Amino acid sequence: MLRIEPHDAILGATIHGLDLRAPLSDADFRTLLRALGDHCVLRVPAQALEPRHVADFSLRFGQVQTSVSGKYHHAEAPQVGILSNIKRGGVNIGIPDAGQDWHTDMSYTATRGFINVLHAVEVPMRDGRPLGDTLFADMRAAYDTLPEAWKARIEGLSATHDFNVFWQNMVNRPGSTRPPLTAEERAKRPPATHPLVLRHPISGRRVLYCNPGYAERVNSVGEAESAEILDFLFRHQLQPRFQYAFHWAVGDLLLWDHLATLHTAIADYTADEPRLMHRCQVMADQVFQPEFRRQWLDAA
Ligand code: OGA
Ligand code: MN
Repeated sequence: MLRIEPHDAILGATIHGLDLRAPLSDADFRTLLRALGDHCVLRVPAQALEPRHVADFSLRFGQVQTSVSGKYHHAEAPQVGILSNIKRGGVNIGIPDAGQDWHTDMSYTATRGFINVLHAVEVPMRDGRPLGDTLFADMRAAYDTLPEAWKARIEGLSATHDFNVFWQNMVNRPGSTRPPLTAEERAKRPPATHPLVLRHPISGRRVLYCNPGYAERVNSVGEAESAEILDFLFRHQLQPRFQYAFHWAVGDLLLWDHLATLHTAIADYTADEPRLMHRCQVMADQVFQPEFRRQWLDAA
């Protein structure tokens, strides 16, 4: 039997009683969706998975996005991307610097991202403690605690999100090995527009959908006003009281809800402390569909 143990924190729960080498039952899928709506970040510990298991599990939630360069995908399961600082023969085996600043995956697409699924294959350790935490911030709480005047001000406003914002910030970092995006790569990731306030498709709660990684412009206001709004929202949403730090263990499978959270990867480990994650980035192509709601979210 699947059991949900909420963490003593603003976000997160541990899921006991699942072995993701076996296909997920419909009942367990329903339970996981509900738990995702409630806790946003779900840890399924001690999973000994092949990449295809990670892909099969992820595909239950929606379509999986592959990388813009087409690089760093697992040979046995093309939906699975590799995040790693490990090099073989001097060549990176995965993306070495993924997610190292606050963002929400795929907010730059028209479809938006729904969840990420990460399976921890190697976790850097120092003095018996894991390094390379992933931090999350709760955008339900961020919305709820906005001053009423700000809630009114952003209601009905939308923002433009651009993949290149995050990419270029990384390129500009000292020591970065990322090349700027080519014209073709930029064409593959055109900017997208989304309301600043979303109603969450599972919990029905209002969430602040905005992130410093990709949101670059509030639409239909002047440039100065856009900058003022974004500056306020970014500072508001990243307050420590909304944050939760996830400490990895080998075998953890973590899934998190992009619609209700921001996240950032903490690069506090060195080249001699290997980190290896297998990842699927799942789109919100299904979760907003009435058919999906009928099948999986409405009470039976
Ligand atoms: C991601 C990401 C965080 C991490 O996979 O989208 O940002 O800790 N990764 O690897
Ligand atoms: Mn990310």
